Amino acid sequence: MSEVKIHSLFPIPIFHCKLENYQETNSELLNYILELQKKDKIGNNHSNRGGWHSKNLDIVNEGPPINFINKSKDFLKHIITNGFGWKYVPNKQRVVAMWAIINSKNSFNVSHNHQNCYLSAAYYVKKPQNSGDITFYDPKEVRTYRSPRIEKYTDYSREAMTIKPEEGDLIVFPSYLYHEVGVNLSEENRVIISFNVDIDY
Ligand SMILES: [Fe+2]
Repeated sequence: MSEVKIHSLFPIPIFHCKLENYQETNSELLNYILELQKKDKIGNNHSNRGGWHSKNLDIVNEGPPINFINKSKDFLKHIITNGFGWKYVPNKQRVVAMWAIINSKNSFNVSHNHQNCYLSAAYYVKKPQNSGDITFYDPKEVRTYRSPRIEKYTDYSREAMTIKPEEGDLIVFPSYLYHEVGVNLSEENRVIISFNVDIDY
């Protein structure tokens, strides 16, 4: 057999970076989120099972989320222009919703995707060991209708992939991708910020 060439068609990107000086950002965000929780103990209920899910954050008036968006801007621009090659028009791509989630012990997030936007993100404010990682599912559902027995998962047979983020990591993915978060098995809270980005010319 001569050298085998594989054309990997239509890969799905998950962009992952560490925010600069994230410790500073995280302490500001953590204080802000804990204050929000004190004021609104019930919050919202979406994909979370247990824990606390905030209402949408005020990204127009509140300092901590605005500072965080400003710190994420270059990464988002890079994804839009270099990653996808989408047309970049200043002020036309917007964070349309942002919220915080505190997963206390034994809480988790069921599989879901984010609608009415192009990009979605998770940012890790507090991520103790064994507090739950994020798993993404292959959106090519037709592939799961039937499958031979798999001996070794490769990029072409894998149907799910778990990413283990650390504090200060920002993960951006196409909004259509289904994802879930594992059970928090640690004694400490896991705290994240999540947001959606829309592009509207
Ligand atoms: Fe999500």
